[in-house]
Amino acid sequence: MNILEIITKKKNKQELSYAELEYAFMGFLHKQIPDYQMSALLMTICLNELNEKEIFALTDIFIKSGEVRDLTKVDGVCVDKHSTGGVGDKTTLVIGPIVATCGLKMPKMSGRGLGLTGGTIDKLESIPGFQVELTEEEFWAGLKEVGFVNVSQSAKLVPLDKEVYALRDVSGTTESIGLIAVSIMSKKIAGGARNILIDVKYGNGALLKTKEEANAFANLVKKIGEKYQVKVQTIIDSMNIPLGNNIGNALEVIEAMDILQGKQGYLTDLCLKLAANLISMGYNISYEKGYNMAQEAITSGKAYQKFLKFVKFQKGDITKLKVSPNTLEVKSNEEGILKDIDAHKIAKLASQLGCFRNNKEEKIDYGVGIVLKKNLGEYVNQGDILCTLYVKDVNIKVDKECLKCFKIEGGNI
Ligand code: URA
Repeated sequence: MNILEIITKKKNKQELSYAELEYAFMGFLHKQIPDYQMSALLMTICLNELNEKEIFALTDIFIKSGEVRDLTKVDGVCVDKHSTGGVGDKTTLVIGPIVATCGLKMPKMSGRGLGLTGGTIDKLESIPGFQVELTEEEFWAGLKEVGFVNVSQSAKLVPLDKEVYALRDVSGTTESIGLIAVSIMSKKIAGGARNILIDVKYGNGALLKTKEEANAFANLVKKIGEKYQVKVQTIIDSMNIPLGNNIGNALEVIEAMDILQGKQGYLTDLCLKLAANLISMGYNISYEKGYNMAQEAITSGKAYQKFLKFVKFQKGDITKLKVSPNTLEVKSNEEGILKDIDAHKIAKLASQLGCFRNNKEEKIDYGVGIVLKKNLGEYVNQGDILCTLYVKDVNIKVDKECLKCFKIEGGNI
């Protein structure tokens, strides 16, 4: 077999066999296929997509690239959730502690940033000392003692996703329904999940752009679930504005803590909805009962305490979480109602501030980011602060186009 022939075949929109996909992807994992050839193959996949047969084959190859965890020995019910990714999405950091407070177990495997969407693992690593890889003993102890553990892909668990994901992040190859489905479902199945909730986001702040793509994706992950006899539920949500007020790694951890301490708003509602679905799925109870349990976990303060316990268990020191001391304020020169906050432009701004990687070697700056000061529908006066930028250097020059992310209409001037 020959990698050039495989790339060319996909370029010509021909189907790749299991053996060809295995040769290319496992060859890449074993460093026999270099980054540039894998990037070319990923790009042809993004342009021409994988068909269902190829997606099933590649999911299987990803799963078999490492070990598969057996969660049947867990004392309790395990649930898992995953988001297809979006700007400011920090839902896992809220939902994990909620469902663990409600007695469920959530052994979660996440990824780093992907393109212009941040990743849970990067967010967690903004907490000094936080370990995203645990030994087997630590993993099982965490599940028993805390009920929520959050780890990354590793040399043992879906190593192929770890490598391909890192390359997709910096090669403009994030936006393929097939690659996203393979990446998410291989992590879930290798992690041993049996009850999975997938939060499918579409819109200009998400990897999937249209409702049609989101529907196709939801059907696909359910079919993959059937193949592996796991229960997959999906929630489809549009995402054209950022999820929450904070964008940036440490800032997003702070917002997750704020929600666990009672902050209200759209993101809190979404987290409660997702947690309620997981609780209802895990205990086989009604959504309403699950919702009440999720709400009680927050109002009692127990979910916040669970978050602190989770961070401490994975060796993070939350007291040392830092954001950049340098800030810039973006003020409105218009008056009116805030009609839109363009998530894609906000993400590009976050990228310029240093929230994401531009190449595999680049270190991201955990303390930089954006805090939105106005919510959709709010009245804005001229001179009001629209957002605060947390920057490395106050002399930073940001692309003026990205600052045009706020649409203000219907004012008196
Ligand atoms: N989350 C993942 O784990 N993989 C993707 O490809 C997208 C979102």
